Amino acid sequence: MARLAGTAPSNSNTQPWQVEVVSGAARQRLADALLAAHAERRTSVDLPYSEGMYAQVHQTRRAAFGAELYGVLSIGPEDHEARAACDAESLRFYGAPHTAFLFVHGDGEARLSADVGAYMQTLLLALTAYGVDSCPQGLLSFYANTVRTELGFTGGKLLAGISFGYADATAPVNRVTTERAPLESTT
Ligand SMILES: Cc1cc2nc3c(=O)[nH]c(=O)nc-3n(C[C@H](O)[C@H](O)[C@H](O)COP(=O)(O)O)c2cc1C
Repeated sequence: MARLAGTAPSNSNTQPWQVEVVSGAARQRLADALLAAHAERRTSVDLPYSEGMYAQVHQTRRAAFGAELYGVLSIGPEDHEARAACDAESLRFYGAPHTAFLFVHGDGEARLSADVGAYMQTLLLALTAYGVDSCPQGLLSFYANTVRTELGFTGGKLLAGISFGYADATAPVNRVTTERAPLESTT
């Protein structure tokens, strides 16, 4: 699957991705470390993030997605405890047995991230083609230093983690459906 993902296109065929996959005991240690960092609010990002980067139209889509997600999970807007439990589940990789961490290897953040994004989508398609379910997790990039320390990996900037395995069809979260904006509004 990683070999297929590596066939992704990149600017001048530079392939500026570095990928670390965790499974088994290392995955459990990392989940524990992430939960500890979360409890102590020890966040660290490599690639800048701000709520302000979303235009109004994107904010509207985000809000619709949040309403769908929390609606399916029957979690109200003020139920901070239940929302925190969702975050915790996410830091346990939603129970998936493997997570691939995608690092951008180099300094040209926005442009190199586009190449790593192409790798990400190729990996997601390869997983799907082989019947493996997956979830890209940008949230994991908010704990870049924790991930780096646990993996013993120093190169690159953390873009996202991709957790993969077989989905639990009975889990309410897997009943969430997403639509797409009309073609004319994006293309
Ligand atoms: C870069 C990126 C980051 C994402 N981060 C998260 C995340 O942190 N947690 C999560 O549960 N889903 C995450 N997702 C999944 C999106 O919520 C999901 O792809 C989107 O809502 C569309 O749903 P669909 O992929 O099921 O069609 C992410 C997706 C992408 C591409």
